[in-house]
Amino acid sequence: MLLTHATLATMSDGYGLIRDAAVALDCDRVAWTGPMADLPATYRSLPETDCAGRLVTPGLIDCHTHAVHAGHRAAEFEARLKGASYAEIARAGGGILSTVTATRAATEDELLASALPRIHQMIAAGATTIEVKSGYGLTVGDELKMLRAARRISRELRVSVVTTHLAAHAIPPEYTGRAEAYIAEVAIPSLHAAHGEGLVDAVDAFCETIAFSPAELESLFAEARALGLPVKLHAEQLSDQTGAAFAARHGALSVDHLEYLSPNGIKAMASAGTVAVILPGAFYTLRETQVPPIAALRAAGVVMAVATDLNPGSSPLASLPLAMNMACTLFRLTPEEALLGTTAHAARALGLADRGRISPGLRADLCIWDATHPAELSYRIGATPLHARIFGGRLDA
Ligand code: NIG
Ligand code: FE
Repeated sequence: MLLTHATLATMSDGYGLIRDAAVALDCDRVAWTGPMADLPATYRSLPETDCAGRLVTPGLIDCHTHAVHAGHRAAEFEARLKGASYAEIARAGGGILSTVTATRAATEDELLASALPRIHQMIAAGATTIEVKSGYGLTVGDELKMLRAARRISRELRVSVVTTHLAAHAIPPEYTGRAEAYIAEVAIPSLHAAHGEGLVDAVDAFCETIAFSPAELESLFAEARALGLPVKLHAEQLSDQTGAAFAARHGALSVDHLEYLSPNGIKAMASAGTVAVILPGAFYTLRETQVPPIAALRAAGVVMAVATDLNPGSSPLASLPLAMNMACTLFRLTPEEALLGTTAHAARALGLADRGRISPGLRADLCIWDATHPAELSYRIGATPLHARIFGGRLDA
């Protein structure tokens, strides 16, 4: 396939804009990109799709979601509007644990069926790769069930799925006050079992006063690394627990949330090459007031990614373009940083070298937008200007 007359944002070196560009695809890979005038003769006979000046970007990558889960938490949304806080609801047994109850009661088929409409919305907003975490099962069997359901998504819909083991998401009621026993008896055994089934691409945890401390997570991260699995961490979302520095010490691919990130944490992430994943949907939903230290991250050269954090509690958000808009308006990212954050930098947060930019040899996952400048994707609020999507070299039907 040959795309012609595109306004191309290759996302190599910033936007990497090429006007009146062509992109030649060979099966599921990009074969050539450049100005129309330079198109080699060999590609001129390929079946042509005229983009008529439309913006073409890499397919969007959502590098942090909890898209597989049962039920919803609209009642907590109402409770928060009446004054309860996210942490209070969690301590009273609601929050993550109410989704755990629903997820334990669901079958693998039910989890898959309830996730598909959400994934469909993400695809309709431009996603071609989606990370999905476990973390609402909190038993060996229920964590495996979530990861198996997540892996089945890519057999049902045209999207790549990356799966993350997040058994250390919350302490289930049967382990109240016994975080270390939970890690030893459930989190680590479920990691071994899931890895044995080939269900784990990375290992994540929630580091917070209402979840786990760095010390409690040490053995889990050591185990992950012994299995050759990269780690990442939910850290400094509601308070500074020095999770970022801990994760960086384990060579983390990313540390996510980061509202309360300290200068020390920034330094550790910069020297480890850890990506900062910012999640403005959770900040917005929980009406947080402490903004992540974007200017300091930028100054330290920490690469930033942007994700939806799609989950039933703190971020019921399925649109990456809306996450980009929030990242700009709430956190003052530039539209260029926001688009890098859902393409090239999101790929880095997942350890994927074969996507996130438009360049020969990389995957042919592309979005064609009803837009002519890449900043339009961040600028519109709640719009989905997707004109067409190409996944693995083929246009969606
Ligand atoms: O990324 N912070 C912890 N985990 C999720 C929230 C999950 C939930 O509330 O169900 C997050 O925001
Ligand atoms: Fe999350």
